[in-house]
Amino acid sequence: MKQDLLTFSNWTPEAMHKLLNLAVEIKQSPSSYSNVLAGKSVVALFEKPSLRTRVSFDIGINRLGGHMVYLDSQGGKLAGREDAVDMAANLACWADAIVARVFSHSTLEQFSAASKVPVVNALCDKYHPCQALADYLTVFERFGKTQGITMAYIGDGNNVTHSLLIAGALLGCNQVVVTPEGHECDAEIVAHAKKLAEQTGATIVESYDVSAADGSDVIYADTWLSMGDETPLADIKAKFMPYQVNEALMESTGASYVMHCQPAHRDLEITGSLIDSDKSLLMQQAENRMHGQNAILTQLLSA
Ligand code: CP
Ligand code: NVA
Repeated sequence: MKQDLLTFSNWTPEAMHKLLNLAVEIKQSPSSYSNVLAGKSVVALFEKPSLRTRVSFDIGINRLGGHMVYLDSQGGKLAGREDAVDMAANLACWADAIVARVFSHSTLEQFSAASKVPVVNALCDKYHPCQALADYLTVFERFGKTQGITMAYIGDGNNVTHSLLIAGALLGCNQVVVTPEGHECDAEIVAHAKKLAEQTGATIVESYDVSAADGSDVIYADTWLSMGDETPLADIKAKFMPYQVNEALMESTGASYVMHCQPAHRDLEITGSLIDSDKSLLMQQAENRMHGQNAILTQLLSA
């Protein structure tokens, strides 16, 4: 039966570690994987803009010997011209996998039900699993492990935060999530991550106070306004400025590294000088997007 990757929510710690190890292996020995997608085609369909995801999938698929067809939303939301289910069923007639970035997680579920080939979530309103895999690959490379490392996410509780919580719980990485009031993570997703964390002993702490991040190994930032959020920046800036990830925060928390999924907004959620500092893992994360995604495709398409 075909497998999808919409979220890691129903994965086991063993499966998550295995995927992470595969990403390490593919990064270290690319020539051993240069034919795994030979003769295969992947359609990548985007309802929202992308730099990293689009390019890392395209080049990554090429490095695995496969071929990618890029489709943008063609002038509007997907359902404008035909139903999402019909679109996915058609794409599956030609493609060996569908990678999709969509507004609503339910579109991915429709794709999954209608497609006979694997569907990969390239970001939706609730999750960004490809990002989380690349990020834990980065943590693993820096610390030699994920178990027992503490990551503090500071900012808006969003799709990236949710996937970091789920994958982190499976990989034994402790999580501190600090948000302003009214910008917390989805309570059901946090509860599920806590349940998953019982298997690995990882801890999950939520707070409105940045001092909760004291003692963390890594600080993680993301945009205050996710794609599709039309809130004027001026309306949220005052609320979020105390949550800016900057040098003073790195000093007070004692964290060794700073991470950000990008696109980053210099001197808003993170200072430009911190992005450019030797504490920054941003480019390593960006590079690892490709290796993580290649592990996902290798696993799904050889299943
Ligand atoms: N981090 C990330 O997904 O970047 P893009 O939106 O540029 O793909
Ligand atoms: N939370 C951000 C992530 C971008 C990669 C967004 O959804 O826009």
